[in-house]
Amino acid sequence: MTTASQAFSSELHGICIAGMGGSAIAGQMAKALLAQKAQVPLITWRDYELPRCVTKDWAVICVSYSGNTEETLSAFESAKKVGSVLFIVTTGGEILEQSKDLPVALLPKGIQPRAALPVIFSIALPIVETLIGVGSTDFPRLSVILDGLVKRWGDEIMSPRSLAERISSPIPLFIGSGHLISVAYRAKCQINENAKTVAFSAELPEANHNEIEASYMYQEHGIVPIFLRSTHESKRMSARFEATDAVYRQSDCPPVHIRLSGLSELEEVLAITHYLDTLSVDAADIRGVDSVRVDKIAELKRRLAEGS
Ligand code: PA5
Repeated sequence: MTTASQAFSSELHGICIAGMGGSAIAGQMAKALLAQKAQVPLITWRDYELPRCVTKDWAVICVSYSGNTEETLSAFESAKKVGSVLFIVTTGGEILEQSKDLPVALLPKGIQPRAALPVIFSIALPIVETLIGVGSTDFPRLSVILDGLVKRWGDEIMSPRSLAERISSPIPLFIGSGHLISVAYRAKCQINENAKTVAFSAELPEANHNEIEASYMYQEHGIVPIFLRSTHESKRMSARFEATDAVYRQSDCPPVHIRLSGLSELEEVLAITHYLDTLSVDAADIRGVDSVRVDKIAELKRRLAEGS
């Protein structure tokens, strides 16, 4: 098996981050922020066996909070089989048992996988930054900035609670572009898992080529478009958001725009995620559901384990 230090050499052919659900999102965010800076492909994998392009010259980061998710275990097995450089992020389980002599970052136990995003991200991002040779993020400084941002809720943007009240019966459709596509998807998943209700996500420009045709039905289906805006958008992307806004307004579905000024791309990803995570917990509270339990995910995993 290739040693970890070899991965730092120019021989590295690619980086793959494998994981599912709450354990996958940190990889998607790292990819959104770093893929364009990397000289090798940076991919995420949310499935069983890894694609055949992943060889011994690739670094594979396997993330599973429980360590027992079968898709991630299968990806881990395929990486082991081809001899990729492996990094494991977990609390334990089967993956830890099978990771003797491999670099493992142990996560704190006792929280929900999706609540472990900050810690998983603070592990996965520096690994990728090191592998692709870009400067490392200053996490202590970042956390001070993020703490301060909470004060802007309710002032620069409506408070998460007010937005949660607005979407308590309608269905939110989170739309992002660029690095905020992963944030839109995270928000959809957080509404599903925390508030136990329906939400959708989409991305620009792609949604302008399909989703937009359905906008005249938004009113009937009670859909509220929520645009995740970046101060780093290109002029063309800003024009696209504004034109999309105008088309949605024709169907009496004015989008809500979420934007925080003065932040880097990385800060936007984390700050808007923090805001929307809070929104999902507020939505759970308004709906009177337990934001922590995920009984259906547990039941499905039990059925798969029993082979039914
Ligand atoms: O948030 C959740 O509970 C899920 O999305 C899990 O993260 C997902 O089922 C994968 O499990 P694990 O994170 O234990 O690998």
